[in-house]
Formats: sequence, C-alpha cells, structure tokens
Amino acid sequence: MKRIAVLTSGGDCSGMNAAIRAVVRAGLVEGMEVVGVQKGFQGLIDRQYEIMSTRSVSNVLQRGGTFLQSARCKEMLTPEGQQLVVENLRGLGVEGLIVIGGDGSLKGADAISRRGLPVIGIPASIDNDIPFTDMALGVDTALNNIARAVDNVKDTASSHDRAFLVETMGRNCGYLAVVSAIACGAEYSLIPEEPYNLNEICQELRRRYREGRSNSIIMVAEGAGSAQKIAEQIKDRIGFETRVIVLGHYQRGGSPTVFDRLLGVRFGQAAVEALQNGEHGKMVGMACAQVQLSDLHEVISSGIRPIDKMLPQLANRLSV
Ligand code: F6P
Repeated sequence: MKRIAVLTSGGDCSGMNAAIRAVVRAGLVEGMEVVGVQKGFQGLIDRQYEIMSTRSVSNVLQRGGTFLQSARCKEMLTPEGQQLVVENLRGLGVEGLIVIGGDGSLKGADAISRRGLPVIGIPASIDNDIPFTDMALGVDTALNNIARAVDNVKDTASSHDRAFLVETMGRNCGYLAVVSAIACGAEYSLIPEEPYNLNEICQELRRRYREGRSNSIIMVAEGAGSAQKIAEQIKDRIGFETRVIVLGHYQRGGSPTVFDRLLGVRFGQAAVEALQNGEHGKMVGMACAQVQLSDLHEVISSGIRPIDKMLPQLANRLSV
C-alpha cells in the first residue's frame, strides 16, 4: 500500500493525537505516504487534507483533543455523501483509510469499507460504549478527570454536610458514572442500565445524615436522567443540603493518561499493520491486554457495549 489516510471523527477525546502520531510514524516506517484529513469525514467532502511528515506529529503525544480536528458529518449519513467520500479518497490515490472515532464514526467507516475501500477503525470515545474492545481511547483520561473533580467536590461537601449530584457524560452508557463511583467512594451511581428507586435512595441518604455522615456523593450518568431534575426531587427529603455539578465537556479534555497514550500508540500501529496485511473492514480493539481485530460491521451492528454487571454490584456493595 503506497498511500493511506487518517482522520478523527465525532466527539474528540484524549489519546487521539497519540493514535494519529502512531499511524503517521508507522506508515512512514512502512514506506507509505500518510494523508492527514482535517475535521473528520467533513474534511473528505470539503477536501481539507495534507501529506503528513514526522514533523507534523511532533509534540502532539501529550496534548488532549485532536490536532486534525473533528466533526460530526451529516452528509456521511446519506449514500451520496458516502459515495463522494470514496470518490475523493480514490481521486487522492488513497488505498486505505484509518478512522479514529466513536460508534457514529465507525458506522461511517463501515459504509466506506462496504463501498470497496479498505478501512480500519480505531475505537475512541470517552463513553466506553463500543463493543468488541475492553477500553476505547479517552476513557481512562475522562475517568481521571472525573475522579479529580469528585475528590475536590468531596472536600467542600464534607465541610458543609452537603450532598452533591455529579452528572457525567456517556450518552446511553453508565460506564463513566459507575466506575468513577467505585473509584471515588460515591454513595450511589445512577446509570441507564440499572433501574433505581429515588424513595429508597432518599431514605438511605437520610439515615446516613442522621448517623452524622458529613457528605454524600451521587454520580448520575447523563443517560439515567438530569442531575438537576433529580436534585429537585430529593433535596427536601435527605437531610443534606444538595448541590449539583454537571461535569460536561471538562471530562473530554486534558493531557492523556499514560494508559491512553499507550492505547493510542498500540491501536495506531496495529491499524497500519492491519492495512499492510490486507485486512479490510476491521476495528482494532483491546481484549485481555492484547490488541485484536474484529469485524467492523459486526461491531456497529451489535449495539452498545453491555456494562459488566459486576461494576454496579461492586459499587452498591461497598457504599454501606
Ligand atoms: O460521545 C461522546 C460524548 O462526549 C457523549 O458523552 C456526550 O453525550 C456527547 O459526546 C456530547 O456531544 P457534543 O460534544 O456534540 O456536545
């Protein structure tokens, strides 16, 4: 393969730059030319790209976000848009494409692959909702961002006998909320995968308040409801004064953790290797600490990655 392209698409996350850098450097080592596409699939429609060199990717490994920039591209949802992207790639002499992004972006990658152009996907989304990989890029950094925020919130909460509802991102997946609840010792994590009973939660929080606990932390996954609305419903029933913090896009940024840097590097290298070996329509992923390839169409047809039931059980068991 003489020329490949790489793009980042959908919501950005930390570790994307590490993956781009690995794709560019591994590609150059293999004697390929690597085209960096700006703003995801939109850049392929608007023809925004440049040939990358080792210098294009120097000093990016430690930076959050994506220096190629990203976008959610509506045209990619239409057959015409998908066809245009394939034609533009072929016009550029690109023989293989690496797409770094979340579930929507991987659907776009699959559409391109099914039109005959070899594509490899790299799972990247703080939500950790992509099946066939234990971890997606950006999850670990987001969890560390959340943990830092919750630790800070606990300091102020315990100084005032307050309960805080902390809303995390994650779309329809509760992974960030439940894992950060375990990591930060939160009393509750409300996630879309598990039903919850606000009356029982109120009774329990009130008991804790009466026992003289100084604070309570309730993690709320955005898919389980609005932390603000839940706070309205419980605030007069739990004893603790309540406050709400919506972490929002703060979770997505920041210098990637070593875990995310390494994951980006391993995924980027594996994606180039896969193209070089003639693989087509695959996603790289991590299973039991090993990089593996899965069928891209199966990945995008499998719905969201189910949450390990052990996680909410563990969170509940330890919040006595
Ligand atoms: O999929 C990543 C994610 O950060 C979700 O957790 C969140 O719901 C969404 O993207 C936010 O999207 P946007 O950045 O377009 O507001």
